[in-house]
Amino acid sequence: MASILFYADSQHEQEWLHTLRNAFMHDVVRTWTPGDHDAADYAIVWKPPAEMLAGRTSLKAIFLLGAGADAILQLGDALPQGVSVVRLDDAGMGVQMAEYVCHALLRYFRRFDQYEAQRDQGQWQFLMPFEKNEFTVGVLGLGVLGQRIVDAVKQFDFPVLGWSRTPKHIDGVTSYAGAEGLDGFLRATKVLVCILPLTAETRGLLNQDNLQKLPQGAYLINVARGAHVNEDDLLRLVQSGHIAGATLDVFQQEPLPAEHPFWQESRIQITPHMAAMSLFKESVAQIAEKMQTLEQGLPIRGIVDASRGY
Ligand code: NAP
Ligand code: GLV
Repeated sequence: MASILFYADSQHEQEWLHTLRNAFMHDVVRTWTPGDHDAADYAIVWKPPAEMLAGRTSLKAIFLLGAGADAILQLGDALPQGVSVVRLDDAGMGVQMAEYVCHALLRYFRRFDQYEAQRDQGQWQFLMPFEKNEFTVGVLGLGVLGQRIVDAVKQFDFPVLGWSRTPKHIDGVTSYAGAEGLDGFLRATKVLVCILPLTAETRGLLNQDNLQKLPQGAYLINVARGAHVNEDDLLRLVQSGHIAGATLDVFQQEPLPAEHPFWQESRIQITPHMAAMSLFKESVAQIAEKMQTLEQGLPIRGIVDASRGY
């Protein structure tokens, strides 16, 4: 019988707890509360406070209820030394990401954004379609979710480019890697999709300098983290027309404050960090399977490398 410590800074805390207790019926799952320093075998968390994990070096692993490790890595020295942090691998998020990105991409490609504006003006006007071979889709991040997005986009015959830290060979994808590959990637990209982890290297990557390397009339779809984008720079580039439209799921501050200028800019689409939610059953099943694998002394996927930041 394992002792599992749970904490989720999430509006779905009760659903998580319920799903965990169903899946770990023969174990003890307890919600961490301040002052709880009792021993545990595993922690299952989302955005835990430093106090929960500090000094817990006897944990066998810390499982995250999401894909991004940026929030937990911010705890720095409060993370127990030598304890693996394990993120979710897809667990049902990949297909949601593919849906979100394809929806935004097709909306721009088929000019639905302009038809929506025309409809609001009571205007009936045919617009010439864009050339597909000029509508290159560049995906920043070719990991678990990035590759799922690429697979989906390819189904519509868009030319696809990808950028990652280490070089990749993916059928039908022109791949760029590292800082030296970024310039060429951006200059050849019409629709930029960001699905990078937030790390010291990727924070603020989508600033004026880099965004203006995109061709005139480019689009941005950000489903990664708000801190990848310099929001003032993006707004300026949208207002100048250099960027024709942006679809943003994530923001520097969430919820996006009511007074934020993005709300007033019709060329910026806003969704409330919903591109891919962690599915309760699928996520918990993946964690349970990984826990069992660890108990057998076998390797698992998704161990976060703190030195890389993801
Ligand atoms: P992943 O499998 O770890 O993939 C990360 C990709 O980014 C890899 O291809 C990696 O390159 C690349 N990368 C990392 N640092 C880089 C750098 N400095 N330069 C170039 N490429 C770099 O992560 P994932 O599962 O696909 O998830 C990605 C992110 O999506 C998460 O971290 C999270 O922030 C975000 N997310 C958002 C939502 C939402 O609802 N909006 C939901 C889930 C996840 P290598 O392949 O060379 O390692
Ligand atoms: C959500 O944003 C995640 O990282 O899973």
